[in-house]
Amino acid sequence: MRRTLLAVLGLLLAGSLVAASPSDAPGGGLTRALDNRDAFAMPAPGLTSKELRDFSFGNRVFNTNWAVAPASVDAFDGLGPIFNRVSCSGCHLRDGRGRPPVDGEDEMLSSLVRLGVPGKDAVGGPRPHPRYGDQLGDRAIPGVAPEGKVRIAWREQAGRYPDGTTYSLRSPRITFEDLAYGPLGRKLQTSLRVAPAVVGMGLLDAIPEADLLAAQDPDDRDGDGISGRVNRVWDPVARAEAVGRLGWKANAANSTAQSAAAAHGDMGLSTSLFPDENCMPGQTDCLAAPRGGDGPDLRDAHLQKLVFYLQVLAVPDRRRVAPAQEARGEAVFQDTGCASCHTPRQRTGADASPARLAGQAFMPYTDLLLHDMGPGLADGRPDFLASGREWRTAPLWGLGLVPTTNGHSFYLHDGRARSLEEAVLWHGGEGQASRDRFKALSRADREALLAFLRSL
Ligand code: HEC
Ligand code: HEC
Repeated sequence: MRRTLLAVLGLLLAGSLVAASPSDAPGGGLTRALDNRDAFAMPAPGLTSKELRDFSFGNRVFNTNWAVAPASVDAFDGLGPIFNRVSCSGCHLRDGRGRPPVDGEDEMLSSLVRLGVPGKDAVGGPRPHPRYGDQLGDRAIPGVAPEGKVRIAWREQAGRYPDGTTYSLRSPRITFEDLAYGPLGRKLQTSLRVAPAVVGMGLLDAIPEADLLAAQDPDDRDGDGISGRVNRVWDPVARAEAVGRLGWKANAANSTAQSAAAAHGDMGLSTSLFPDENCMPGQTDCLAAPRGGDGPDLRDAHLQKLVFYLQVLAVPDRRRVAPAQEARGEAVFQDTGCASCHTPRQRTGADASPARLAGQAFMPYTDLLLHDMGPGLADGRPDFLASGREWRTAPLWGLGLVPTTNGHSFYLHDGRARSLEEAVLWHGGEGQASRDRFKALSRADREALLAFLRSL
């Protein structure tokens, strides 16, 4: 563990970047000048040595390959029985963004398919499929059958800018193979989602609920064609309903709820929040498999350090990618209405915890609200209040670093966009007017806008 910490400190000293003015720092006091492949994986500046030790332990929990129970290291066993990956970092590689499969033969390595059937579960969330639950588990421990395999095929559709420039957009077709627990049936709902980067989670957790509520405009009173609203989800920590903040549909209330749900749903690890194994009633081998000791697989003390780690990851500062274009691009971003949803600045509450998150002004470029993005992006799978066409405004911080940190430039909830430009071109519904203004721009202004996005 000490080696990890030294490596982290060494990388920090190696950085030599221009810092933005403090008032525009993307992560407030958690901002750090970073532009290498570990740009999402560094601690915020100024952590005490005790905090750095907790960060380092949380880092270990995030990167550990969990073992099948019983194993020699009891603290890190209990994987599965059915699961998607053996570690958090398996999907959030270097704390960054996942990608969808390249084609039908490619494996699902950093994305997953959520499942459901019409209706709601006991706490108002998506109703799980009776045989397969709320997510297809494509891996399992020895002696238990994985649920099946996901196959993605891409369909292209051509488009054209008013100036005659052509483009092509792709969208996924999802099919399943090797289903081990019977047919999926005709009422099946699916939602392909890639793993987002995990920086800035503590700041998003700490925006006062009142600020999110005040930004809503469900009946579009101001007549701008944009009517954001909060998702309301079940928070297993408070055991109460709460405003949703994380996940592509703002389907999780906070970093603790999201991390415990990920441990359970993606890796098959029980916690005090989700004490049962993630097996459906008909999955007898899964239900009979040995458990990882008496308590939860992921202990409370370790879950807390994992969450602390996520909350104090540094937010990378902006980089100069094309100085001549960025300022123009930022003005175009305002003029085309992007900022109506991608709210540049947010502020955390004065009583946020841990204390270093309190009173921070930061630049996530999101209102955290749900918006109807039209039929093109719809998944048809409601998630708490979010309809099958609604998505949370994606934060834009760090987007330009994804090629550096994760070696690809796939964007949107299912990674269908192969560039930032394609991500913008997919905006429909409440985002259509803004998208059309983008399409009508001169080529120079379009490129300036994209340069601005790459600098975030
Ligand atoms: C199988 C891949 C996979 C694994 C393994 C995984 N995640 Fe995720 N993670 C995702 C996906 C996909 C989402 C988006 C979920 C959604 O929209 O419902 C996500 C979302 C998140 C978010 C919210 C990010 C945001 O911007 O809203 C956090 C935090 C997170 N995961 C933490 C974790 C932790 C901690 C672990 C390990 C315990 C973990 N994840 C394991 C795929 C994964
Ligand atoms: C009506 C609200 C709205 C407006 C207006 C809007 N967006 Fe978005 N944007 C969203 C939502 C919601 C998503 C997530 C959609 C998804 O993943 O399916 C998103 C996603 C994105 C993404 C991909 C982010 C990621 O993490 O993959 C980019 C880039 C983006 N928007 C840029 C823009 C730009 C540039 C404009 C202005 C031309 C704009 N948006 C206008 C709501 C909006």
